[in-house]
Amino acid sequence: MDDNGGEQERNWLSRRGSKALTPFSPYIEAVKKAKASEWSLGNPDGFFLMARAENTLSFELIHKKMNGSTSRGINEGMLYMLFSLVFSMIGWQVLPFTNLILLECRETPITVGLYSDFRGGERLCRAIARMMERTFMGVEVNSTNLCISSGVTAVLDLFFFATCDQGDGCLIPAPYFPAFDNDMQIRNEVIPLPVQPKDTNTYIPTIEEMEGTMVAAAERGIKAKVLLITNPGNPLGTLYPESTLKELLVWAVNHGLHVLSDEIYANSKFGPSTDEFVSIEQVAQAAVAQNLVSAEDVKNLVHTAYGMSKDFGMNGFRVGCLHTKCEELLTFWQNMGMFAAVSNDTQHALAVMLEDDEFVDSYVSENKRRLKKSYELLTSHLEAAQVKYMPACAAMFCWLDLRTLLEVPTFQAEDNLWKEIMEVTKIVLTPGGACHYAEPGFFRACYASMSPDCLEVACARLADFVTRKRRKRKANGI
Ligand SMILES: Cc1ncc(COP(=O)(O)O)c(C=O)c1O
Repeated sequence: MDDNGGEQERNWLSRRGSKALTPFSPYIEAVKKAKASEWSLGNPDGFFLMARAENTLSFELIHKKMNGSTSRGINEGMLYMLFSLVFSMIGWQVLPFTNLILLECRETPITVGLYSDFRGGERLCRAIARMMERTFMGVEVNSTNLCISSGVTAVLDLFFFATCDQGDGCLIPAPYFPAFDNDMQIRNEVIPLPVQPKDTNTYIPTIEEMEGTMVAAAERGIKAKVLLITNPGNPLGTLYPESTLKELLVWAVNHGLHVLSDEIYANSKFGPSTDEFVSIEQVAQAAVAQNLVSAEDVKNLVHTAYGMSKDFGMNGFRVGCLHTKCEELLTFWQNMGMFAAVSNDTQHALAVMLEDDEFVDSYVSENKRRLKKSYELLTSHLEAAQVKYMPACAAMFCWLDLRTLLEVPTFQAEDNLWKEIMEVTKIVLTPGGACHYAEPGFFRACYASMSPDCLEVACARLADFVTRKRRKRKANGI
């Protein structure tokens, strides 16, 4: 009770803690509801969750590998048992040899129970570096330049903590992945500065647009410290051309900005496109060779984030990493990495899996084939129903243009349409407003979060919804 006899409002949490009570976007509540009751033949009233960036298409291949049910795994397991038996018969300790002969993901060394390097154990760092180098980076990747944490979310959190002060800004080309707001704003009080590209055919921001956003922020007292790009993109599923990356990198580095490239979808380029995937590290090295930027600046300002959540569908494992050559950032991680370290158990299983080049290559190519199949399934329905969309070639999203179905061109109308789609079709999409796109009427659809059979039903419902809605609007003279 307060002095006036009324109920006193008590703050159980800090100002920061209280701010974090609300999800970063209202659509998160709908995602939770849908997750609790997903559509299946046995649950015909369930939801189609197309708002969550989850790739479930190929996880059974990872699961099988993790559980050692490949013939190679069985042979190696037997070899290990044989070694153990022989060594124990002659009185030798088996443990010192376990790192050499343990070949099953789930056979952990005894050291698994101890603290290890908070930037990630040496073995996993080596395995991830090798995988990144072989599959998408296009340049040599040294394992000592990696910091491993529990997902790219944790990587971004630590990165913003390390590089920005409260109230600093981060330039991000829009539309962008909605949860970035959580990573920077809620955790680190860093202000997202969306850069709205005028070219809505490509959504590629120009240097003038970057500059304009940075200057406008400075007028509000916000100092831009980072340029965050996502390549391949979420929510567009497209790639930045190498020339754009070079232009953005040179501009940002020469302004003293950190450039963080989130390449979490780098191994999910499945479709034909005019541009190939090029990593920011490759672009940076070329820019140094051309004397466009200094080697010292690139070393300290250019960083890449990668993770296992998307290309490998392993978001439940919580593994991500930062590739950086900045000594200070590496030292920072050595200390602060403990807040988001990956368990040794998971590190071991993942290292064993990634050391198998043959498995990694066949998995990546099979996953791309499945992504392509699902993307084509969705887009064939969209085309039949004459729904406009941004052609994609990577990641797991399709950016739908439903502007013609809005009552009026406002975000309230976008929200109404989003709710109507959910009520009528049971499909949960991500509204474009949540991706900070400036124009209402766009929606992100994730097509990899369900089996093709399930997707087929969802697509038919969406196409039917659009057709009926259009007919109704026509009948009403709209
Ligand atoms: C571009 C991007 N970055 C980061 C993340 C977060 O990934 P993680 O599961 O590794 O935290 C996501 C997840 O959707 C994403 O799309």
